[in-house]
Amino acid sequence: MKLNPQHSLTWVCGLVVCLAIGEAGAAEAAELNSARERLLLDFNWRFHLGDDWGTGEDLVKAGGSSGPARPGFSDSSWRSLDLPHDWVIELPFDETADGSHGFKPVGPGFPQNSVGWYRRTFELPKDDAGKRLWLEFDGAYRDCRVYLNGYFVGHHESGYSSFRYDVTDVAHCGGKNFLAVRVDASQFEGWFYEGAGLYRHVWLVKTAPVAIVPDGTFVFTEFENNVPQGPAEIIVKTRLSNSETNSATVKVTCRVKGPDGTEVGEDDQEIELDALGEEELVQSMTVDAPNLWSPESPTLYTLVTTVEANDKLLDQTQTQFGIRTVAFDPDKGFLLNGQPYELKGTCNHQDHAGVGAALPDRIQYFRISRLKEMGCNAYRTSHNPPTPELLEACDRLGMLVMDENRLLGSDAANLERLAGLVLRDRNHPSVAVWSIANEESVQTTATGGRIGLTMQQLIHQLDPTRSVTMAANVGNDFGGINGIIDVRGWNYHIGKPMNDYHATHPLQPNVGTEQASTVCTRGIYTNDKERGYVSAYDDNAPEWANTTETWYKFFAARPWLSGGFAWTGFDYRGEPTPYGWPCINSHFGILDTCGFPKDNFFYYRAWWTDRPVVHLLPHWNWAGKEGQEIDVRCFSNCEEVELLLNGQSQGRQEVPKNSHVRWKVKYAPGVLSAKAFEHKQLVLEEKIETTEHPVGLIFSPDRAAINADGEDVSIVTIAIVDRQNRTFPLASNLVNFELTGPGRILGVGNGDPSCHEPDVYIQKPAMRAMALKDWRMKEVPEPSDRPEIAEQFSEDGWESANVQRRFGPLKPGRSAVFRAHFALTSDELSAPNLSVRFGTIDDEGWVYVNGKLAGEAHDWSTPHSFEIRKFLHEGANTIAVAVRNNAGEGGLNSGVTLEIQAPTVPVAWKRSVFKGLAQVLIQSSKTPGELKLVAQSSDLKSASVSIEAKACTPRPSVP
Ligand code: GAL
Repeated sequence: MKLNPQHSLTWVCGLVVCLAIGEAGAAEAAELNSARERLLLDFNWRFHLGDDWGTGEDLVKAGGSSGPARPGFSDSSWRSLDLPHDWVIELPFDETADGSHGFKPVGPGFPQNSVGWYRRTFELPKDDAGKRLWLEFDGAYRDCRVYLNGYFVGHHESGYSSFRYDVTDVAHCGGKNFLAVRVDASQFEGWFYEGAGLYRHVWLVKTAPVAIVPDGTFVFTEFENNVPQGPAEIIVKTRLSNSETNSATVKVTCRVKGPDGTEVGEDDQEIELDALGEEELVQSMTVDAPNLWSPESPTLYTLVTTVEANDKLLDQTQTQFGIRTVAFDPDKGFLLNGQPYELKGTCNHQDHAGVGAALPDRIQYFRISRLKEMGCNAYRTSHNPPTPELLEACDRLGMLVMDENRLLGSDAANLERLAGLVLRDRNHPSVAVWSIANEESVQTTATGGRIGLTMQQLIHQLDPTRSVTMAANVGNDFGGINGIIDVRGWNYHIGKPMNDYHATHPLQPNVGTEQASTVCTRGIYTNDKERGYVSAYDDNAPEWANTTETWYKFFAARPWLSGGFAWTGFDYRGEPTPYGWPCINSHFGILDTCGFPKDNFFYYRAWWTDRPVVHLLPHWNWAGKEGQEIDVRCFSNCEEVELLLNGQSQGRQEVPKNSHVRWKVKYAPGVLSAKAFEHKQLVLEEKIETTEHPVGLIFSPDRAAINADGEDVSIVTIAIVDRQNRTFPLASNLVNFELTGPGRILGVGNGDPSCHEPDVYIQKPAMRAMALKDWRMKEVPEPSDRPEIAEQFSEDGWESANVQRRFGPLKPGRSAVFRAHFALTSDELSAPNLSVRFGTIDDEGWVYVNGKLAGEAHDWSTPHSFEIRKFLHEGANTIAVAVRNNAGEGGLNSGVTLEIQAPTVPVAWKRSVFKGLAQVLIQSSKTPGELKLVAQSSDLKSASVSIEAKACTPRPSVP
């Protein structure tokens, strides 16, 4: 049921439809709804960690899935949660686990933590019958099997590519639908933290039988010589499908709306679609005097595509796009809108403090904004396809993207994933270049070259507007992929290899796909191997890498290199280079895992922006070092900087381009200040002061008002401060957090690469298992309508039954009733959940509790669990199971237990600050109101902050 990616849905369009509905009039919204709906399916899931039921797949008969994949399965004891969800951040750190993945016990060697099941139900109205229905996953880590109503609907292995299934045939319109997803993270796909679970959004999409196919819209602009001058030619390709058995003639209307919503272009055409057929239509429009998209001016246009037949609206999508051109030139480097444009880029993995890989959209915007603050204009999605919401943030905020594929390969599965990536992402103006792979070991071989060429050709076929690169970690080597690739990508190897390569291959453009890998810890100024910290002076890089200043000076002097991407913008979990345990995350970031800047942030800001910058390091709290020399450095893009300690000049220096200035200063507490001059005029001054001892806490939320939509997040910084509210740069106090009001704490972090405190505190229901013993059994002719299942039925003369064995005692074709008794106290009866769990019921069984039918089992191969609380009472209770054995040796086997859930107690959130700072992520619910966050730490004055969750129209979702 998985469709060819050529036929997959326009992700962006769908989202924009949802956003637009909020603004449209009610009549228009109703009309839109009848044509296409895209509903978020993130809320109200149940989750279970553990490989207790196999894959759920039945290879023998359709619809015969097992375990949680079956509609009748009881998941009432499972944890409730909303997506996105990454279960790996919930696991403890473990020194024996893989360090490059962040020392979390998941993947190879940890089967107990590597499989998770998600389940939820949803209703579909009766009048959805006749529509096409799709389940879409932005991405899930990894190896997912999806079941709807007990039917297997698809298997998707990649942990990074999006996938969707047409579930029209097995959906139940006019009733309840049972969705189950098994996620298996037993294998790694990368060498960095990857998370696990449904860590991106899930959607339900409904369309008419005649509709634009998934990802079926491609909008791009053409200018003569690829240089935007004069009017823009907007070309729209629309792929339509007709899933009805009659042919259909439809009118497709394309309307282009400018940034202010006014219509600037329109075209309509009719097309005939064969019965069960597909067609592509090409239309074009002219936009006079377009506003060009760029990171500095991210102007978005909207394409509204309408499909009608006989004046009836069949489909409508909205696709945001930008009018701009991109190209690479061997001499001038990257060209944006026909002009040389230096890529000031960072590579990034996808995780953030507190949430792991499961980022609410708001955190994507936060991260992109932080990068822009330092002058970064380009983002490499190393080493995998991003979630589409990241690209939306880049489109809207203005950030170019190198969109990277995960694995090199020209086998069918890899090409299908690559095609899916290009079809999904090619309308994003932010996407400037595709990357097919990173540092593959076959990159310089002839085979590697052939694979690379096939991949590049496929990309060109689907997207003729962009170039392709590959992140190559070799020097002057034209073998394999470098010999065929549009743009030579450079991971490291600065210096002679690059110069020589350029001289020998002067017609091939170049880009610094990955540079730097400078290692720094925020707020630390001496290497500390024991605790796993690296000094934040720009001094340390592994042998293959470079300091910030070294790589950037080299690139800045060579415009033909197109600029480069620093490894990395943000710290990420895993790869704790240059150390190992106790370090659990990388030190490569220019910002830490929370997005708190390290000092190098200001180096980049100085040389990547035009605004005056002056930044001093280190901090000025060196009690005990009075009179000793401190290495003071300053990042500035001003001509000269004068340093003063307590008003006394320490000297004035010229700042070399793309470099820094430094002084040796004998420490005395007080004020260290840097005065920056342009043309001998003072333009800026920065002061750092010796603080007093900390006395309190201060909160600063990035936004004090968020939307009450169940998704929005306020990113709150907590600082430990002295009497004058100055952050104490050495503080490591443990802080307790309490949130009241309609929302929740989503996660906490502090950027410390060696911190083993939890990112999340989850309410895990504690379960107590009581073995049900002393079973008795009696063979019966057949299992239905048995009097023996009654609550009071005498078991006189019944034989005792051993329910611990694996097979037996029933012969083929025999049936029996099994009975047991247990007593419950009133306390036990008040448990939030009481379930009975059977090892196996072989082959079929009907479970009665105190004479009432509590569940049925029709699959002998997996355990069964039934929630039975409502059938129980205080004191003695009876359980009876009528079992029929169809073949082999059967019965009630592998043990029976009563599982009693302890009442959940509210969890206490806490986190130590690191170098004075920590971060708390607060997420709204759909209820408006005031959220109040209180922080307490011993001997410090507590703090509180209010965040308003404002009433809003949440985007349409499945309740
Ligand atoms: C590169 C690699 C990255 C990361 C980095 C660390 O070679 O592409 O994924 O491992 O090294 O310096």
